[in-house]
Amino acid sequence: MTVRAVIAGVGHYLPERVVENAEFEKTLDTSDEWIRTRSGIERRHFAAVGETTSMMGTAAAKNALADAGIEASDVDAVIVATSTPDLTFPSVATMIQSELGMRTGFAFDVQAVCAGFIYALSNANALIVSGQANRVLVIGAETFSRIMDWTDRSTCVLFGDGAGALLLEAQEGAGTADDRGILSSDLNSDGTYRDMLYVDGGVSTTGTAGKLRMQGNPLFRQAVSKLASTATAALEKAGVDPEQIDWIVPHQANIRIIEGTAKKLGLSMDKVVVTVQDHGNTSAASIPLAFSVGKERGQIKKGDICVAEAIGGGLAWGAVVLRV
Ligand code: ACO
Repeated sequence: MTVRAVIAGVGHYLPERVVENAEFEKTLDTSDEWIRTRSGIERRHFAAVGETTSMMGTAAAKNALADAGIEASDVDAVIVATSTPDLTFPSVATMIQSELGMRTGFAFDVQAVCAGFIYALSNANALIVSGQANRVLVIGAETFSRIMDWTDRSTCVLFGDGAGALLLEAQEGAGTADDRGILSSDLNSDGTYRDMLYVDGGVSTTGTAGKLRMQGNPLFRQAVSKLASTATAALEKAGVDPEQIDWIVPHQANIRIIEGTAKKLGLSMDKVVVTVQDHGNTSAASIPLAFSVGKERGQIKKGDICVAEAIGGGLAWGAVVLRV
């Protein structure tokens, strides 16, 4: 018998305020046309004043629990992927644990920027497979609007806020690729790329939260090759051929990166869940958001093979292969 971490519920939350590209034309030397053609983004959601990462993560988690029909008290662990926590500590995960009314189990944050949800899923899978937890809530939640430099047109038009959550549950499998649940993961990082994408502040340096800085073009080139190679490595580990993939659920940073990666994997865009036009880049929240929206749209169904892949600051990148 093999223990598998199977998706029992999915949910998301998006803040009410929607900002169309045209709004940036009022304050920056940019255009809706540039943003659309270079990134595929048309609009994004921004958190309201006072609305925090933990609030959005809690809302997404409640939706995932409702989707699964499971009480928070029956969850053993909460893992939150975020780079924009409410406070330096305690973790967003413990805040969400408390908001959900959980007084048992354990909760912690994972920080791997845009790859955070892949790292969190992989950690949750390890906890379930090793028997340390039976049910794990895995949440990606971000308020990147709080670390934008609103005078930097090369970054501030690209990001958005939101949260998504998956509830994973231990179930018995046969140990083959026909099982439901997480079939494999592939994680990578290389800290020599630190200057490609970083925040210019922090606790032990400036004592401030800082603003996001990015070398967009070199990062773009790294993204396509690293995403295709990590997805290929994860597929090999799972024993799944690319033609068996039903859906790629990619990190939503740029439609051209998403298209380039699908092409390298030999897959057409009708096998890719795309939400970047409506959400922008929501960092660690983008994959669970896309997963939840893809399910709502009727794209992702029970039994489908999905490949989730992401790259972000670090650089850190990775992929997870799962059967829904
Ligand atoms: N409006 C108009 N012009 C702009 C804007 C804007 N908003 N932003 C940049 N430009 C200009 C630049 O100044 C540059 O002008 P120049 O040629 O006169 O110098 C020109 O447009 C082209 O700039 P590039 O950076 O070369 O454009 P590119 O085609 O690479 O697109 C982008 C930029 C969208 C940032 C792209 O490089 C990208 O998506 N990079 C990867 C981002 C990514 O993968 N992030 C994932 C991780 S995110 C995370 O971990 C938090």
